[in-house]
Amino acid sequence: MHSLVYRSVADTAFILPEIYSMLSKAKEYNSEHQITGCLLYHNSSFLQLLEGEEQEVHQLFDKISKDARHHNVTIIQEEAREKRLFERWSMAFHDYGQNGMSAHLKMQQIDSFVTNSKVFTVKNGLVLPFFSNAKEILFSN
Ligand SMILES: Cc1cc2nc3c(=O)[nH]c(=O)nc-3n(C[C@H](O)[C@H](O)[C@H](O)COP(=O)(O)O)c2cc1C
Repeated sequence: MHSLVYRSVADTAFILPEIYSMLSKAKEYNSEHQITGCLLYHNSSFLQLLEGEEQEVHQLFDKISKDARHHNVTIIQEEAREKRLFERWSMAFHDYGQNGMSAHLKMQQIDSFVTNSKVFTVKNGLVLPFFSNAKEILFSN
């Protein structure tokens, strides 16, 4: 099993209705290819975790990194892992909205989001960079 985390910046035209429509196709593709993971979105920043067979993850990431609807695609971490963090999710999505949300509320949302994953039960190299990036994106303004 292979895990890849990247972040990117959404183009201005890539707004929520378009993101939801992309996601419905993405979930179909992901379940057909045994890809799981999650996508966080806040203030135009994306953070995505992709998990699956190494070749499948690379094939999908290749398409995603060429997608013109976002830019500055930067890999944060890649590693082989025994188990998935989001085994029941073809692509969990959370929109953290725009600025103005209190720090407390942001933390509550991140907590409730990860409760649905195995993030807190698995100790490994992936978890810390993922959440430190998630926090950086959420608290960057
Ligand atoms: C931020 C972001 C995340 C994406 N995540 C996925 C995904 O998890 N699965 C997927 O099939 N496509 C995802 N896509 C869409 C792909 O980039 C691409 O449009 C899709 O795989 C169809 O590619 P194709 O038309 O070349 O077959 C994502 C796109 C963006 C911008």
